[in-house]
Formats: sequence, C-alpha cells, structure tokens
Amino acid sequence: MSALLEKELQELKEVDWSRVSTKLAEIVKEREEESVIDIVHQELEGIIEKNRGQEDALLEVLHQAQELIGFVPKAVQKKIARGLKITPGEVASVMSFYAHFSERPKGKYQIALCKGTACYVKGSAEIIEKIKSKYNLEAGETTDDGLLSLEVVRCLGACGLGPVMTVNGKAHGLLNPEKAVNIVEKYKKGEI
Ligand code: FES
Repeated sequence: MSALLEKELQELKEVDWSRVSTKLAEIVKEREEESVIDIVHQELEGIIEKNRGQEDALLEVLHQAQELIGFVPKAVQKKIARGLKITPGEVASVMSFYAHFSERPKGKYQIALCKGTACYVKGSAEIIEKIKSKYNLEAGETTDDGLLSLEVVRCLGACGLGPVMTVNGKAHGLLNPEKAVNIVEKYKKGEI
C-alpha cells in the first residue's frame, strides 16, 4: 500500500466501523489477525480490479465501497478515481449528487424523510422540521452520539402511505410530527 493511501486511510481507525458497516465487521471478525486498514485496502483493490479503467462503473463501485465501509472517505474516492481512470472531481460530483452516498460515517439509525410531492401535500415539511429541531440535525449530518443520521429524499416509493420515512430501510407511513418522533425514540431505545 502506498504511504499516502495508508496515511489517508488512518481516519478509518478512528471510526467505530462495526456500527457503520455490518459487512466490514463480519470480514474483520473472520480475519482477526489483519488490521481494518489492510482489509479495507485489499477488498477495495478487488472491487476496483473488476472495473479497472471503466468510468461507466463508477456508481456501482461507489455503491460497493459504501456497502463495504459504511461510507466513502476522501482517500477511498481518490483510490477509485485512479482505478477507473477518472478525476477525483468526477467522483466527488457523483458523491454529492446522490444523497445515498456519504463521506462520513452514518448513524446507527439512518433516517430518510420524504419530501416528494405526495408526501409534501400531506404535511412532510412539518415532520422534517420537527425531526431536525428535535435532534439538532440537518440533512446529511449525524448526531454527535453517532445514533442518528438524516437524509431528505424525493420519493421513497411508498407514496400511498405518505408522509413516509424509512429508518435503516424500514418504511414507516401515515406519519405526523409526533408519530415520527415517537418512532425514532423507539429505535433509540432499542424497542424496534
Ligand atoms: S412522494 Fe413520498 S414516498 Fe413517494
């Protein structure tokens, strides 16, 4: 591994990766003699190798990298750019376009609130404001305790149940602000 990449990947050592990536936690458990940094490096090499030089594969490679690590830090973005023979700016631009991708670790409970038209007309704006103010959280952020992260998305594909949010991919519909907070509180207490 290059000294530069190793240095850049050090930020992973400060992350509770078992919280943000089930997949990485499982691999580390199996290969307990290896460091997280080495494992991330090797697994990424494998993902990139299959798509080397193929700029059209960027979305898929980013998806696999995020699935592996739980987020896609700058060092990993640069590595992907080199592998696919595109610029780091192109990778950063795709990262910022899709709310799904994150440069920082996401929370244990990942909330996606819908602001699409069907949800909006049924009051999603109030729900979004309530969740933001209650947890002091903006879209794209994670709470300091690492429990909650928030995305605001255009449609969750369950318009008939609007207003809708998902928590770790599980849909909760027919919400109002109080109901949304109650559901989030249940996740925080481990009741869901
Ligand atoms: S608009 Fe909210 S789920 Fe489709």
